[in-house]
Amino acid sequence: MKKIGIRGFETEQPAVVVGCMRQAGFTDHPFSAQEMNHFIHTALEEGANYFDHADIYGIGRAEQVFGEAVAMDPSIRREDLVIQSKCGICRGYYDSSKEHILEAADGILGRLGTDYLDVLLLHRPDALIEPEEVAEAFDALSVSGKVRHFGVSNCTPLQISLLEKYLGQELVINQMEMSVVHAGMVAQGVEANMTTPGSADHDGEILNYCRLHGITMQCWSPFQISLKDGTFLGNAAYPELNAELSRLAENYGTTPAGIAEAWLLRHPANMQVIVGTSNEERLRELIRASDVYLTRQEWYGLYTAAGHILP
Ligand SMILES: NC(=O)c1ccc[n+]([C@@H]2O[C@H](COP(=O)([O-])OP(=O)(O)OC[C@H]3O[C@@H](n4cnc5c(N)ncnc54)[C@H](OP(=O)(O)O)[C@@H]3O)[C@@H](O)[C@H]2O)c1
Repeated sequence: MKKIGIRGFETEQPAVVVGCMRQAGFTDHPFSAQEMNHFIHTALEEGANYFDHADIYGIGRAEQVFGEAVAMDPSIRREDLVIQSKCGICRGYYDSSKEHILEAADGILGRLGTDYLDVLLLHRPDALIEPEEVAEAFDALSVSGKVRHFGVSNCTPLQISLLEKYLGQELVINQMEMSVVHAGMVAQGVEANMTTPGSADHDGEILNYCRLHGITMQCWSPFQISLKDGTFLGNAAYPELNAELSRLAENYGTTPAGIAEAWLLRHPANMQVIVGTSNEERLRELIRASDVYLTRQEWYGLYTAAGHILP
């Protein structure tokens, strides 16, 4: 499986992150701890030991079940897992106050049954953010050993710069929605200085910013048109893209989803892809597909098949 370097980590980390939003969280059929345990073993067998959580997934249930799944099984050692979680989304508002971050971190640690998080992210930009307070919270979490690395999610360059002016720690991760279909971050650059829809700047050139500052981008919803519109895989609205995904999947001995993932991992920003499947076979295939390295022609072919233009 492909691995990448992340600033501040002593060892390289898996390019495929196991997203934990759905299995025991936001789903109509939540996993039991036993099922989650089996799922974790499958990920670990394939070398994927980096797990992404958030306190809001299933309103705490995702973390709770994960914690139980680990606690029931002495063969899963905490030091072999990289556990990332996020805080700051509350029901009906966002909260990045010191008090909330500290309380949320304790809640996350309690549910996961661990005394430290490898990474804590602020889940969404908070319009009322007071960076001095975030700095105090991060300092306290860092000094107490409760959190080893910090990052953000869904942030623009200036939001990151504003925070970093006050923080004593580096922000090492920015998690953003990205797929071959949801690729505005790429299109904006390719269509620079044009009046085409793709040229619109929706994120302040966050991709270039992260590359410049050594912040690892993590792509969430890699197979979705958007969270509300569902997947583009096998979706009749994307015939050209699906034909190209299937053709390349056959050439490379993987699945169309594996090729959609490889499209993200081929980008030289050295991003991680957070996959959200609850299906163990799909998970295995996706972890294995991280070794697929697309040619430029294949990468641009997928890009245009997804509906983006080359000026
Ligand atoms: N920071 C943020 O704001 C944010 C927001 C959303 C998510 N996230 C993180 O990103 C992770 C991934 O998000 P996501 O779950 O939306 O990503 P995803 O991997 O694009 O979507 C997974 C969903 O697609 C379905 N799917 C259908 N066909 C598939 C196929 N052939 N291969 C793989 N999946 C297929 C899966 O169903 P099956 O389970 O049946 O395979 C599952 O319901 C989450 O778990 C979470 O950790 C972060």
